[in-house]
Amino acid sequence: MASWAIIGLLAVCHASYITAYTKFPEGFTFGVATAAHQIEGAWNVSGKSENVWDRLSHTRPEMIADGTNGDIACDSYNRYREDVEELAHLGVDFYRFSLSWSRILPTGFIDELNPDGVRYYNDLLDALAEHNIEPLVTLFHWDLPQSLQDLGGWANPKMIDYFRDYADVCFKQFGDKIKSWITFNEPYEICEDAYGDEKKAPAVDSHGVGNYLCSDTLLKAHAEAYHLYNETYRPVQNGKIMISINSIWYEPSDPENAEQVALAEVANQFKFGWFAHPIFTEEGGYPAVMVENIARQSASEGLNKPRLEQFDDYWIERIKGTSDFLGINHYTTHLITGAGVDPIAKSPSWLKDIGAVTTMNVGGDSASEWLRVVPTGFANLLRWCKSSYNDPPIYITENGFSDRGTLQDYGRIQYFNEYLSVILNVIYDDGVRVLGYTAWTLMDNFEWRAGFSERFGFYYVDITHPDRPRTPKLSVDYYRQLIANRELPQDERFKDPAVRRL
Ligand SMILES: *[C@@H]1O[C@H](CO)[C@@H](O)[C@H](O)[C@H]1NC(C)=O
Ligand SMILES: *[C@@H]1O[C@H](CO)[C@@H](O)[C@H](O)[C@H]1NC(C)=O
Repeated sequence: MASWAIIGLLAVCHASYITAYTKFPEGFTFGVATAAHQIEGAWNVSGKSENVWDRLSHTRPEMIADGTNGDIACDSYNRYREDVEELAHLGVDFYRFSLSWSRILPTGFIDELNPDGVRYYNDLLDALAEHNIEPLVTLFHWDLPQSLQDLGGWANPKMIDYFRDYADVCFKQFGDKIKSWITFNEPYEICEDAYGDEKKAPAVDSHGVGNYLCSDTLLKAHAEAYHLYNETYRPVQNGKIMISINSIWYEPSDPENAEQVALAEVANQFKFGWFAHPIFTEEGGYPAVMVENIARQSASEGLNKPRLEQFDDYWIERIKGTSDFLGINHYTTHLITGAGVDPIAKSPSWLKDIGAVTTMNVGGDSASEWLRVVPTGFANLLRWCKSSYNDPPIYITENGFSDRGTLQDYGRIQYFNEYLSVILNVIYDDGVRVLGYTAWTLMDNFEWRAGFSERFGFYYVDITHPDRPRTPKLSVDYYRQLIANRELPQDERFKDPAVRRL
């Protein structure tokens, strides 16, 4: 009897651990995401030109963990029909993918339109339409034409015009079939990782300088594309356009420590606010704490003017309000342990400008060093976005988990289940307006500098086989059931037998 009582008690504890909410609200939509360079391959055929990731992986292969590249990737340029079959099997409402600039405009400029590139995306869009899958299309997901990088890339203010021109071509060519656009995917990663560091191509590593030149150009380019759509295309195409901002969310290591709490807010302004504040607040411009910290640091470095230039009144107004939704990519939460210069910070740099020491969180491991499972951080980020940005309508445009490629991917299922539970909690308990969710990613793909060593996909892809066969993982059944029922699956077979929790 005693042992039954204990089991009963455990069952009660276990039940209370599970979220109260399982059902998604009416109208909530589900999708999956990919990015052109990570899946398409066909890097040098059908008129496509070289982009910055082709250049990096070819000329500095040691920068890619497993020495792979995007030459063939998942071969989606030739196998997009298989991709669409998989999407249909999952039952998604929408598919988020990106357009390859160097495939559509091989010179980077509008003078030369590549008919094969235009045909490829039209074929993909038509295949999606046949299955009633809505496209959610990203204009720029990191694969800048090398020709434009040779002119300075996002550190060159002329990119404002070049991006607007490229966006114009895309709206004109595809806008009758696309009702939802994303201008930029993860501006932080574009500017800080690629111009302030060498974590991403083109690996310019102009720390503390190039990253801020990039954000100046990128935010203006985003605003110009928005206004072009808003004024010229929206009246006839009736679509929506937004930006997707990534956040590693920062929390105090000790929630009772007031200094850490304050520094976590500073770090979140530097990370998420850097790109969200100019677009989503009433006052516009960069967050005040960013402007102040960088001005102070720059002065202490003996510079005549701050490394971050503030927007003038024209640009503050021009950038404000230029996103119909707040697109959030979120994976994990890191910790702040105190004031000072982070030991890994270069000088000068964005990280040094924050003035806080960061560390990895505790939490379940993934295959990615930076990615720990911390669902409570996601709840805090979403509540913070509601209060910081005047209760915006939100789409989660990426969220996902990496492993090394197992088909019984209980870790991924548990991650989705816990992060989706959090979304339900903030929707019902806090009134956060989350309207849709995008899982990253349809299939294992070229994970940038991690190559194929970190796998985020619903489908396993055998990259040693010329046909790139895709095999469904257990998470395919999980997501399919979730979408069909609009409810978190309670099915025993999705629970990890080793851990026995979901
Ligand atoms: C394209 O790149 C592949 C390597 O991925 C190479 O073998 C092939 O020769 C190239 N083709 C052309 C037309 O340059
Ligand atoms: C978008 O266009 C509408 C209609 O012209 C206008 O009222 C609105 O202010 C524009 N949005 C922005 C952010 O400029």
